[in-house]
Amino acid sequence: MHLHKFEKIWLIVGIGSLVVFLLILGFGAFWLGTHPQSHGVTIDPQNIEAHEAFKPENLGVTQVEEDKYIINVVASAFNYDFGTDEDGAPLKHIRIPKGSTVLWQVTSPDVVHGFNVAGTNVNMMVEPGYISSLETEMKSTGEFTIVCNEYCGTGHHLMYATLEVYE
Ligand code: CUA
Repeated sequence: MHLHKFEKIWLIVGIGSLVVFLLILGFGAFWLGTHPQSHGVTIDPQNIEAHEAFKPENLGVTQVEEDKYIINVVASAFNYDFGTDEDGAPLKHIRIPKGSTVLWQVTSPDVVHGFNVAGTNVNMMVEPGYISSLETEMKSTGEFTIVCNEYCGTGHHLMYATLEVYE
C-alpha cells in the first residue's frame, strides 16, 4: 500500500497523540491515584442534617483511630462548612498530622460545587443529592488550599479553606 508522505506524517501525529493521551491518563489513574469518587451514596439535599455525617456537630475533623480521620464538609454557595471552633466561629483552617488516612465526605444542599485540595489527589465534584467521598493518605506536610473548581455562582471565587498537614 502506498501512503503519501503527508498521510504518513498525519498518521504518526494522530497515533502518537493517542498514545501520549493514554500514557497521561494511565499515569494519573495508576500512579497519582486519580479516579472518580463514589457516586453510589445518595442524600436528601433538602434535609442533609438528617444524615449522621452532616449534623452540625459532626462537621469538620473527627479522629476515629490513631491515624485515621473523617472530615465531613458541607459545600454550599459560597462556603465550605467545617463546623465551628471552640469560640463558635466558622472553621476555615483545619489541621491533621502527616501520614494519616483521611476519609473525606462532602455534600451540597444547593448546586454543583468542586472540592479540590490543591496539590493532592483529592479533587471531587460535589453534587446535590449525593455524598462524594474519597479516602486518601496525606503524605506530605504543608498548607494546602481547598478550592471550588466548579463555577457555582457570583461568589465562586470566595469558596476556599486551608488544610494544614503537620509533622
Ligand atoms: Cu462552589 Cu464554585
